[in-house]
Amino acid sequence: MNVTIVYDSIFGNTAKVAQAVAERLGSENHVRLATVQEAKGVELSDTDLLIIGSPTRGFQPTPQIQEYLAELVRFPNGMVAAVFDTRLDLETVQPAPLRWVIEVGGYADQRMVAALQSHGIEVRGDPGAFLVSGNEGPLKAGEIERAHGWADTLV
Ligand SMILES: Cc1cc2nc3c(=O)[nH]c(=O)nc-3n(C[C@H](O)[C@H](O)[C@H](O)COP(=O)(O)O)c2cc1C
Repeated sequence: MNVTIVYDSIFGNTAKVAQAVAERLGSENHVRLATVQEAKGVELSDTDLLIIGSPTRGFQPTPQIQEYLAELVRFPNGMVAAVFDTRLDLETVQPAPLRWVIEVGGYADQRMVAALQSHGIEVRGDPGAFLVSGNEGPLKAGEIERAHGWADTLV
């Protein structure tokens, strides 16, 4: 299977998850890993599975990922997609009422799924959601292993 992973990352945490997914799938698939900046030049014509990863910022994917999704109009028939985001570990958010605001606001995964579906692209599996402690991370312990497990659900 040909897999293309497109991600954005400001502080490096989403990049680590993307790399973990790429490593896991890379043993049995042909995997291309591209930042969203690089992805504009990446042809999807041979892609079977497109994976998109973004930090959640202001309840949304980054503007660059939103733009990539909005412009995703040329893709092969039969290509499926999957998404993951990174987001705050609510247990580390203070003061506690702010947790409610973050939860109610929603996360990048839902927005990415909606954008893909608006193009008629089938979304495979459940979105991945990986937790960071504080805005700049690091990833919560065990999240790289969870990313490996999530990757296994996609193929
Ligand atoms: C401006 C800003 C807005 C953010 N908004 C949210 C949010 O709405 N929900 C959330 O769970 N995390 C939010 N975060 C935390 C980010 O999800 C976290 O910085 C990101 O997962 C780190 O990924 P990266 O290292 O790949 O940039 C925000 C962080 C920043 C800096």
